[in-house]
Amino acid sequence: MIKKAIILCGGTGSRMFPVTKSVNKQLLPLFDKPMFYYPLSLMMLSGIKEFIFIINERQEVNFKKALGDEKDLGIKIKFIVQSKPRGLPDAFILSQKFIHNESVAMILGDNFFYGNMLSPIIKSSFKKTLGCNIYLYPSNNTSAYGVVEFDRKNRIKRIVEKPKKTNSNLIITGLYVFDKKVSEYAKKLKPSKRGEIEIVDLINFYKKKRKLSVVKLGRGSAWMDVGNFHDLHSANNFIQNIESRQSFKIGCLEEIALNNKWINKKNILNRIRFNRNSRYSQYLKNLI
Ligand code: TTP
Repeated sequence: MIKKAIILCGGTGSRMFPVTKSVNKQLLPLFDKPMFYYPLSLMMLSGIKEFIFIINERQEVNFKKALGDEKDLGIKIKFIVQSKPRGLPDAFILSQKFIHNESVAMILGDNFFYGNMLSPIIKSSFKKTLGCNIYLYPSNNTSAYGVVEFDRKNRIKRIVEKPKKTNSNLIITGLYVFDKKVSEYAKKLKPSKRGEIEIVDLINFYKKKRKLSVVKLGRGSAWMDVGNFHDLHSANNFIQNIESRQSFKIGCLEEIALNNKWINKKNILNRIRFNRNSRYSQYLKNLI
């Protein structure tokens, strides 16, 4: 079973300049919570309690402020500074000690996942701890992402980056599981033309070893990369719509921790104090 996850909260955020010149992208609001609450909540729903946050220099204080006391959330977080965005697989090099011969999940801090049955599917996929697991989502915008093509027998044929033409509509989302060898393999990667080591190269490395498997997320789920204003705006509306119709919150860390029995009423009371007289606090009051 996967027990640890890395949340990638570094990067440049250049698609969101000038806003992200002064604030880290993952701290921006996605409707009524900081953006990183959503990937964190998905991992908590999938049973993960131990986290590494990969962050930019001098950002730890801001993430800690946005999180409050992690003990009241029933989780453990370690922050690792990435001095420069060297690419997604760099996270595995930086967190080699944390991974410590175990398989690990990694999720991008600007990715929003939502859907009925999504967390049970992910939780169940976390039982597999050998090789690499990637999560695919149907999209009509394949030219912007990594795409997985399949042969007639539905075996993975190849992975293509931002293809102009492809017969597949399945794109690679920002959630990955890698086995304990990942840091060793990540160190072997050579930077691409844009000067970063690439996650697709790492995935292809596993594919060559016949150790790559995929989980196809159904059309009943939602996935968005909210690292640009257009998609951030769409996701804001999406979350606002669902939350106001159902009066359940998406990505409420305290609710998940309470349901998982990781925290108790006392912790929720601490969180109510932390969030003062906000609507978020009001929601927490209703939980107890
Ligand atoms: P991206 O959105 O691909 O990159 P970015 O955040 O630098 O944004 P932009 O393209 O607008 O310049 O990164 C995906 C996620 O991974 C995001 O949460 C930032 C994070 N990231 C790191 O933590 N370290 C890195 O080296 C890179 C490239 C990204």
